[in-house]
Amino acid sequence: MSEPKIYQYFATTVNLLTSCNDEGKANIMACEWTMNVSFEPLKVMCLVHIDNLTHAYITSTREFGVNLCSDTQASLANFAGDVSGRDVDKLADTCFAGIVYSATRIKPPMISGCLLNVECILEEVLEIGEYTAFVGLSVAIHANPQVQPLFYHRGKYFGLGSHIAKPAP
Ligand SMILES: Cc1cc2nc3c(=O)[nH]c(=O)nc-3n(C[C@H](O)[C@H](O)[C@H](O)COP(=O)(O)O)c2cc1C
Repeated sequence: MSEPKIYQYFATTVNLLTSCNDEGKANIMACEWTMNVSFEPLKVMCLVHIDNLTHAYITSTREFGVNLCSDTQASLANFAGDVSGRDVDKLADTCFAGIVYSATRIKPPMISGCLLNVECILEEVLEIGEYTAFVGLSVAIHANPQVQPLFYHRGKYFGLGSHIAKPAP
């Protein structure tokens, strides 16, 4: 078996990042490079490759949806991360049937069954080589404490492991 690439040593969650174009056509991609960068107000940063359709959509309409996957959503993440919206209407695929819903404050749709849904308005753009960091201000948030997060590590999906207690002071 080949050695993992250095970047695969990082363990991440997976965001089903939604966006749309000026005509309202929506798209979705898997985005592991997603993190909160401000608590109050909540701001979320997503790193997106410049060639992705999502990049063009967010640049144009300045809105995006963050949908953090639960541990039952690995197949959705894998599909959304494997093909481009330039070739396939991903949200029309049967795997998304019945779980796409309208956002309250932004045009891109949101995905149900996730750990966290955050509707974002683009606030800052930082170009980092072939990737762009899109920082969004949250305008609507829905958390689902009943479900567990999906993780991505060394090219594989994982659930939450066992709890490791903090050492006694
Ligand atoms: C689990 C997973 C995580 C991914 N994370 C990222 C990411 O953080 N940033 C990125 O630009 N692409 C990421 N990708 C690749 C994109 O999802 C992929 O290139 C996708 O086809 C782009 O779709 P689009 O062209 O419809 O926007 C990831 C793929 C997978 C499977």
